[in-house]
Amino acid sequence: MPESFFILSKDYLEIAIDEIITIAKTYDRFSKIKIISNLVIVQSKTNWEKIAKRSTFSKISGQILRKMSGLFLDEENFEVLKNAKTFVCRIINLSSKQFNIPELESSMGDMISKFSQAKVSLDNPDIVVYLIFTENENFFGFSKKINEVIRPIKVKKHPHELDWKLTRAMINLAGLQEGETVCDPFCGTGTTLLEAEAMGIHGIGLDFDEKMYQISKNNLEANGYKSKLVKDDFTGLKNIVGEFDGIVTDLPYGRASKASENPEEILKKFVAILPKKKKIAIMCKKDFEKKLKLNPMKKYEIYRHKSLTRIILIK
Ligand SMILES: C[S@@+](CC[C@H](N)C(=O)[O-])C[C@H]1O[C@@H](n2cnc3c(N)ncnc32)[C@H](O)[C@@H]1O
Repeated sequence: MPESFFILSKDYLEIAIDEIITIAKTYDRFSKIKIISNLVIVQSKTNWEKIAKRSTFSKISGQILRKMSGLFLDEENFEVLKNAKTFVCRIINLSSKQFNIPELESSMGDMISKFSQAKVSLDNPDIVVYLIFTENENFFGFSKKINEVIRPIKVKKHPHELDWKLTRAMINLAGLQEGETVCDPFCGTGTTLLEAEAMGIHGIGLDFDEKMYQISKNNLEANGYKSKLVKDDFTGLKNIVGEFDGIVTDLPYGRASKASENPEEILKKFVAILPKKKKIAIMCKKDFEKKLKLNPMKKYEIYRHKSLTRIILIK
């Protein structure tokens, strides 16, 4: 079974690791995962590119060709370069050992040149060949250019809008798949709907505030996205339960955004009407969740500044 590698940004490492695990298991529930610090190895039927395109915090990714016990490279490993015109070698050292990386990269390049017609290109190679060193194991793999991730445009913004990367990570952590529908009952400027649509997931948004409803509408129209939008209180969710597969939302904090009532009270009422058997990712202010009977499967803390730490709850 193919093995892929993902080197993750250390900014939100726990979220980044779980994001890869959930995406891999969403596509193939029998995927096997191995975590070595910020390196995640996935054994799955799913191609690495499919996982890489969905993941938010993966910096480098590719397919593993062969696990290595030393620096042994053979002809079979270079099959992948058969149709490539250009390549480059990169060493990733996640171990505590010291290597002369430029020297290693260049001698690896020389060695590959003996087996392959491909020429070295430092700037724009068709294929990048990786040697990854970890404390106990080394990996040999490759990656090639993948199409840029499609990002929506926002014609109207608002200070309380959610960071697009965390929004995407929440969609992924909830386990939503292409073709499914996500609902954001506090949709604000429409970040969840915009990112979901860009990922091939349909959206339904609710917001009780006319101004926010209009901002979402304009942002969706600017991208040609057809998400359903309703100007309504979040309790309107009860009338459309059959229309979505999951909820991804960021609740009011009682700061910049308008709230119909005390934000803690809103969360309590919201949790009370959460539909069962849906994929759920909620962001709210830390400690708001303490009195709730929610039993999240996972909980992540996101420090914003000294008076605001947010949490993501996955159900
Ligand atoms: C933190 S903001 C959401 C921001 C959004 N994720 C974005 O990126 O723009 C909370 C939103 O909840 C809306 N809201 C507050 N009370 C509401 C209620 N009772 N029903 C529906 N929406 C409400 C506010 O108008 C605001 O747009």
